[in-house]
Amino acid sequence: MTQITDMVSMETEGDVAVVTVDNPPVNALSAGVRTGLYEAVTKADADDSVKSILIVCSGRTYIAGADIKEFGQAPQGTPLPDVHSAIENASKPVVSTIHGTALGGGLETALVCHYRVAVDSAKFGLPEVKLGLLPGAGGTQRLPRIVGVQKALEMMTSGDPIGAKFALECGLIDEIVDDLKEGGLAFVKKIVEEGRPLVKVSDSNDKLAEAKGNPDLFAGFRKAIARKARGFEAPEAIIQCVEAAVNSDSFEDGMKAERERFMTLVTGAQSAAQRYYFFAERQANKIPGIDKDIELIPVKSVGIIGAGTMGGGIAMNFATVGIPVTITEPDQDRLDKGLGVVRKNYERSVKSGRLTMDDVDKRMGLITPTTNIEDLKDCDLVIEAVFELMDIKKDIFTKLDSFMKDGAILASNTSALNLDEIASVTKRPEMVIGLHFFSPANVMRLLEVVRGDMTADRVLATCMAIAKKIRKVAAVSGVCPGFIGNRMLYARGVQANKMIFEGPMPWDVDRVLFDFGFPMGPFAMSDLAGLDIGWDESKSKGETIRDRLCEMGRRGQKTGQGYYNYDPKTRAKTPEPEVEKLINEFSEKKGKTRREFSDDEILERCIYPMINEGAKIIEEGMSFRPSDIDVVWVNGYGWPVYRGGPMHYADSIGLDKVAARLKEFQAQDNDDFWQPAPLIEKLVAEGKGFKDM
Ligand code: 3HC
Ligand code: NAI
Repeated sequence: MTQITDMVSMETEGDVAVVTVDNPPVNALSAGVRTGLYEAVTKADADDSVKSILIVCSGRTYIAGADIKEFGQAPQGTPLPDVHSAIENASKPVVSTIHGTALGGGLETALVCHYRVAVDSAKFGLPEVKLGLLPGAGGTQRLPRIVGVQKALEMMTSGDPIGAKFALECGLIDEIVDDLKEGGLAFVKKIVEEGRPLVKVSDSNDKLAEAKGNPDLFAGFRKAIARKARGFEAPEAIIQCVEAAVNSDSFEDGMKAERERFMTLVTGAQSAAQRYYFFAERQANKIPGIDKDIELIPVKSVGIIGAGTMGGGIAMNFATVGIPVTITEPDQDRLDKGLGVVRKNYERSVKSGRLTMDDVDKRMGLITPTTNIEDLKDCDLVIEAVFELMDIKKDIFTKLDSFMKDGAILASNTSALNLDEIASVTKRPEMVIGLHFFSPANVMRLLEVVRGDMTADRVLATCMAIAKKIRKVAAVSGVCPGFIGNRMLYARGVQANKMIFEGPMPWDVDRVLFDFGFPMGPFAMSDLAGLDIGWDESKSKGETIRDRLCEMGRRGQKTGQGYYNYDPKTRAKTPEPEVEKLINEFSEKKGKTRREFSDDEILERCIYPMINEGAKIIEEGMSFRPSDIDVVWVNGYGWPVYRGGPMHYADSIGLDKVAARLKEFQAQDNDDFWQPAPLIEKLVAEGKGFKDM
């Protein structure tokens, strides 16, 4: 075996040169891999004793893409196009044998080989769009030539991979093999024996024909993804590259179009934010001070208390990944109702083709209902999701403490109550933790894991691992009012609610935040949640806008009216003149002079309080790092990922500018709400940003 670089080696098996990539954990195309592949292929091509070349990867996967850490750095090693040219133009067959995930630049490398084989668990995709990029090494030109234009557009704008079976059907791979290396070797020997040609994907144009002279295909596709792609630059750039693949006179012209657009994206703010976010999400899972090899508590069964809005959704997360759940309500009717909702949710996935009835039955079979809370006693983890009242929660935890087996994790889904107070009623506060799911709990990706004062490291580490298992993105929060997400949401709400008496109407504020990239603004969100949450008719004195709206029967979307009027059929919202009148009356009563606000000011008055609150959360030690806060906001509150999250956004503006603006608002409003957090002042004084922490 010859070591070509520290990441690539080559050995000969008879007359086959086997080139092995070994760059753990995911065999990213780092400089050492590119240079190694280039040199190995060039050397093997020049060696007359070699008849064919097989590329294989060590470890858990084939090449999973470019090395994301290299973007934005000075280029090193052999450029990827040179590697691809050496492979595609080799004078003897080059074959990739694939396992794990062939992604991004990895799949693009496989596509320049003359043939590809894979084990049946392999997956293939071009997920660059998730990093604000497009496939920049020929993927936009070669993939449509293999899977067809429509499918290529779908794959590249969603970033979702396909499996080996479909890859075989459409010709992306030539054979499914049982054994990665032996199967690859047998295939490569066979094609040499049969004298098969050196196939170049770039030569085959058949599958582009359907789209040639058919602009409707692209127009229809743009329309179909418009809602999902709103605000993102990469999907449109990908579509343009595929149009170039279809309409250019030559393959090279298409490659040129791809290169130009790739360079624009890779140097742009969106991709910088999305690449930052990629690492933020992985970082959030690492807990400072806890050894990554800490022994975890095995969680083989879960108990859930309360089968309401949250309990049912939480149960689905576990049943979906095959973990049995016992769920309890004191009352049989409520229990039946809760399980009915769970079944209906699963059945909706049957209608959309994502599940079969058999899957539904299997999952429902994993959920055991009971009205006897003590049936949960042997569960490894219990999650309480009952009404948000401290007395009830304390009562439940006292009971749990009395009958739960030793070593069980006791979790609460509270969204605002003090977890330490809940834990204090037990004799095992070290086993108590907050698992704050977001609604709908079976859909939303975020899980705020709330670490109490006494929570044991092992309990925390186990819950982070469970989050991954149930496919949630977890971020750790300390115990503080609203934890990370709701605490910052509250800060934004304070200013949004104040602003409407001074100038903009709710729909102006909502429009600015929608245009920024949120799915909706704070007033539309309140209408969706219901304006009467926490509102008590018997105590209402019409003192706030919300009181007045609720008194008028305008309780949000569910009543067809709130801040907005809602079309009963389409749910489209329109501003209501009566609400405008009411707001103007309140302004007058409060002695406010209404004035014009620019969109920029509206945005700053909503976002900067969040940044300031985020800084306070960090300095109080309620969050380990600024990027965890970004993970919370992107996954739980619809912060547009192409802006990275509030803390990344602050850095991208410049923390000094944010601080200066906070001080301007402080002076303008004569309100210490705007006083910059000491952490912001400190970082600005040091010429640093959150990213430097
Ligand atoms: N570059 C650098 N590091 C990477 C990486 C990449 N492409 N992909 C993963 N990593 C790192 C992660 O940061 C993580 O590091 P850590 O252990 O220090 O936190 C480690 O590898 C393991 O990653 P995951 O925790 O995500 O492991 P999983 O097993 O859950 O998932 C995966 C594996 C499916 C490969 C997933 O990591 C993934 O989706 N990676 C990104 C793939 C991608 O986007 N490829 C395209 C890159 S852009 C490109 O290729 C441009 C080209 O067109 C020119
Ligand atoms: P819900 O009212 O829909 O459900 C609560 C359920 O608990 C009811 O079905 C009730 O019958 C049951 N219950 C009450 N006492 C019980 C007991 N002693 N034993 C067993 N079951 C009992 O409430 P929801 O919305 O599901 O909220 C539950 C918890 O989740 C609350 O703490 C809430 O703050 C939190 N939460 C709610 C979110 C939401 O958007 N709804 C989001 C995140 C957290």
